[in-house]
Amino acid sequence: MAITAIKGCNDILPEESGRWQYIEQAARRIFERNGFSEIRVPIMEKTELFCRSIGDTSDIVEKEMYTFTDKGDNSVTLRPEGTAGVMRAYIEHKMHAQDPLAKLYYLGPMFRYERPQKGRYRQFHQIGAEVTGVTDPLVDAQVLNMLCAFFHEIGLDEPTLQINSLGCPDCRPTYRAALMEFLQGRLDRLCDDCKRRFTVNPLRTLDCKSAGCAEATKGAPAMLEHLCTACDDHFSSVKRYLDLTGSRYSINPRMVRGLDYYTRTTFELVTGLLGAQSAVAAGGRYDGLISQLGGPSIPGIGFAMGVERVALLLGERDFSRRPDLFIATMGAGQRDKAFCLLTELQNRGNRVEMDYEGKSLKSQMRRADKLRARFSVVIGENELATGRASFKRMEDGVQNEAALEADDIVTLLA
Ligand code: HAM
Repeated sequence: MAITAIKGCNDILPEESGRWQYIEQAARRIFERNGFSEIRVPIMEKTELFCRSIGDTSDIVEKEMYTFTDKGDNSVTLRPEGTAGVMRAYIEHKMHAQDPLAKLYYLGPMFRYERPQKGRYRQFHQIGAEVTGVTDPLVDAQVLNMLCAFFHEIGLDEPTLQINSLGCPDCRPTYRAALMEFLQGRLDRLCDDCKRRFTVNPLRTLDCKSAGCAEATKGAPAMLEHLCTACDDHFSSVKRYLDLTGSRYSINPRMVRGLDYYTRTTFELVTGLLGAQSAVAAGGRYDGLISQLGGPSIPGIGFAMGVERVALLLGERDFSRRPDLFIATMGAGQRDKAFCLLTELQNRGNRVEMDYEGKSLKSQMRRADKLRARFSVVIGENELATGRASFKRMEDGVQNEAALEADDIVTLLA
C-alpha cells in the first residue's frame, strides 16, 4: 500500500502554492514597511519552553503538543506557536542589550494535535509579528493597524477586529475571584472541561464553545469592569489611537485567549466564513513573558495569523502564474534557435516555455493553451531564414511581427 501523509498534515500542491506566495509576499511587504525584520527560529524546542510560556493548564500544553524524547533522552516539542521560540531567541542572543525594542516577524509550520477539520490542522502555518520593549499603547494600535493593513492589502475586508483587555497581575486576581464567585453557584451547568477549569483557569469558561457553558456564564462579570487604573488608562489609549487612525473594531469583553502569557490588550480578527474556525489571526500583549522565561523585565506584544485560514478566505481567486511566451517549432531544425531564445529571455526575467519532446505543432499549441501563455510564436524554416516571426497574443489572436531577437521580443512582451 502507498504511504500517505499524516492525518491533519497537508501538502501544498503547485496549483495552491501561488496563493501561499501571494500571502507571504504581502505580509513581508507590509511588515517591512512597519520596520519589522524576519527572524527564523527552530521548529523544535525544549518542552519546558512551552510549558513555562503558554502555561501548564492551557489546552495546548495539556492536550495538543507533539512532545517526544529524543535519542539523548531530552524532552523536545514541535512548536505549537511562534512567540515562545522567538522570545527564547531574543533572550538567548541578548538582543535587548543594545536596544530592548525589537520588531520581528516569522513564518512557518506549527504543530498541534487537534481534531482536524476545515481550517484546523495538525501541521498548520502561521505568519506572526512581535514587538518588544514598548508599553506605550501607541504600539498596540500600530500592531493592530499593521494586521488590518495586511488584510486590506490582499483584498480581504471581511474579518473584523475584536479587542479586549485582560488586565495585569495587579488587577486580574481580583477579577478571577469575582468570576469564581459568580461561577460557584452554576458549576453543575458547566461542561466537564470547564468544571476542571474552574479551579485552574476559570477565565477559560468564558470562551467555551459548549452551549451550556455559554448559557451558564451569561451575565458573568467582565475583566474590563475590574481593570486597575493603569490598565484602564492603557486600554482607553489603545482605543483612542485606533479611533485616531480610523480603524474599525469592536470590544469583546468575553475574549480570553487560550495562551496564559497575555496581559492587557488582546485581540482577534474573526470571520463568519470559516464555520467553527472563526479566528483568522489573534494576539495580544505579554508584558510578563520575557522575564518569565528568564530574561529581563521587558514587555512585548504581537500576533499570528493562520495561513491556511487566510488562504481559504481568498476563495476561488486564481493565483497560478502564466508564461509570457510559448515558443513552438515546426520541426527539429528550429529547436536550437528556440532553446537559445528561451534561455536568453528567461535570463532577462521572462517566463518562457517550449516543447521538450519533439511533439507535433498541434500538440505544442494545445500545451500553450493549457498553460495559458500570453503569447505564442511558431518558428519554421522560413522564420529561421528571415530572422522574423509572427507573435500571437493568445487572448484575442492579434498577430505582431518582430525579429527573433531577445531585445525585440522583450519589448513585445512588455
Ligand atoms: P493562537 O490564537 O493560538 O495564537 O493562534 C493564532 C492563529 O493561528 C489562529 O487565530 C488561527 O488562525 C491559527 N491557528 C491556530 N491553530 C490552528 C490550527 N490547528 N489549524 C489552523 N490554524 C490554526 C498564537 O499562536 C500566538 N502565538 C499569537 C501571538 C503572537 N500572540 C502574541 N504574539
